[in-house]
Amino acid sequence: TNVDKAGYKHFMAKEIAEQPAVIQNAITKYLDEAGTGLNWPETLPDFSQVDRLTMVACGTASYACFTAKYWFERIARLPVEVDIASEFRYREPPVTPRTAALFVSQSGETADTLAALRYVRDKADHVISVVNVPESSIARESDTALPIHAGVEVGVASTKAFTCQLTVLFLLALKAAHDRDQITTEQLQDHLATLRALPGQINDALTLSDALRDIAHDLSDASDVLFLGRGLMYPLALEGALKLKEISYIHAEAYASGELKHGPIALVDPTVPVVVMAPRDSLFDKTVSNMQEVIARSGRVILITDAQGRDEAAEDVWHSLALPTVPEVLTPILYAIPAQLLAYHTAIAKGTDVDQPRNLAKSVTVE
Ligand code: G6P
Repeated sequence: TNVDKAGYKHFMAKEIAEQPAVIQNAITKYLDEAGTGLNWPETLPDFSQVDRLTMVACGTASYACFTAKYWFERIARLPVEVDIASEFRYREPPVTPRTAALFVSQSGETADTLAALRYVRDKADHVISVVNVPESSIARESDTALPIHAGVEVGVASTKAFTCQLTVLFLLALKAAHDRDQITTEQLQDHLATLRALPGQINDALTLSDALRDIAHDLSDASDVLFLGRGLMYPLALEGALKLKEISYIHAEAYASGELKHGPIALVDPTVPVVVMAPRDSLFDKTVSNMQEVIARSGRVILITDAQGRDEAAEDVWHSLALPTVPEVLTPILYAIPAQLLAYHTAIAKGTDVDQPRNLAKSVTVE
């Protein structure tokens, strides 16, 4: 590729830093000139004619789908099924009439995702893809391909592609909500206004890199780490754990906070740090009470929250971090930043190959 590190030590660092600009770019591409309305290819379906959305992907892209499920279900009241491509393709899932299928892939070439697309091709009403490479196989074989406009991503661990996938999926959920009369034009404009403010808030989140480096220094001694989150933060916890294991080789597992008592709490002791992702949202008190259960068992908590959350709940934690306050629906895009930076700085502390982690490939084009 003809991209370089532009002065950064690693492609991953550069790609993390680029996020305010590329997210801005992705937003602009799907808004009208005034920035107050949506601008989609004509080929997209009218979502009032769609009864179910099936989303399929692998790896980080699958966590973008799990996040988007909350948006499509909560904002657009559209039932969503999410599956990983390697399972979906062999299960022969029935595809009911009025199903739209949506495939998310940075490369657009992942073998399992492409095979899943080919399976639904003649069964679904409409095949949509969300890709970073517009000329890719997955893009070419869909009815509508929506580029995420993230620019070339070189680091094997996906960063900017993930947040741009989320941005495009959020905008698509707004279209679905509007098509299905779940939000008014005014509410749509309010959502778009808050989204337009997000790149600036992501910029602010990036200034927490030094604080995350200090936390990562302490984290790098661990051999196991737990990530907890609820609601929109659950897929983010999965993504945080994936990032950490991919590049630092520390074993990391994510759980929905409410599942803590059904198993993972047995692991909690002072040697297993627990990363809790909890903006001061509608589920905050629930997550905090799970966090207290960890602390009561001498677990060391890294609390990633906002200023109010830190005021209310950070007293007994090991480390805490306060991000800018954003509307609840947008928290996954913002909270991806500390998840990425924590993994990045932990990998640096351990001296691993950040851009080319062992045994992993950027694009998995064989099964
Ligand atoms: C590989 C990469 C991951 C990526 C996954 C899916 O495992 O290492 O970063 O999330 O493939 O790739 P895709 O190109 O389909 O998004």
